[in-house]
Amino acid sequence: MQIQLNINGKKETKEIPPWHTLLHALRDGFKLKGTKTYCNSGICGACTVLVDGEPVSSCIMLAAQVDGKEITTIEGVATEQGLHPIQQAFVDNQGLQCGYCTPGMVLLTKTLLEENPRPSREEIARYLGGNICRCTGYARIVESVIAAAEAMTPEQK
Ligand code: FES
Ligand code: FES
Repeated sequence: MQIQLNINGKKETKEIPPWHTLLHALRDGFKLKGTKTYCNSGICGACTVLVDGEPVSSCIMLAAQVDGKEITTIEGVATEQGLHPIQQAFVDNQGLQCGYCTPGMVLLTKTLLEENPRPSREEIARYLGGNICRCTGYARIVESVIAAAEAMTPEQK
């Protein structure tokens, strides 16, 4: 079947088998490898992307379900000027080790700060809790989110 997605601000059309998940379509159909795959069952959060601005586990959503919707992947977060302040905060505060959970963490931080521009440590831990960091670097991840919240202007949130 043919699906049209607005991925990271660009309209893209592809022929996709109807049983392919959004994760499969992004990585293999659209060649966007930034979205990670691990559990493939909606548990770990590695495959998090935004659909119409809402975080979803792309491994448990069919590509056909998001036909015509706006998708944001990690490839769409940086700006023409360089890294997004959230990405920069993760770099500056050692918020990543192997980086496997990082695309999902960055996207979740983006929606968290849109909803709650100055979250507490507890609120950050609760919001990001569905994305498992295998390296267990949670303290540095929370510090990165706090730094991002401080660095970002209201227009960037
Ligand atoms: S790979 Fe999708 S939730 Fe784990
Ligand atoms: S940095 Fe390795 S899984 Fe989180």
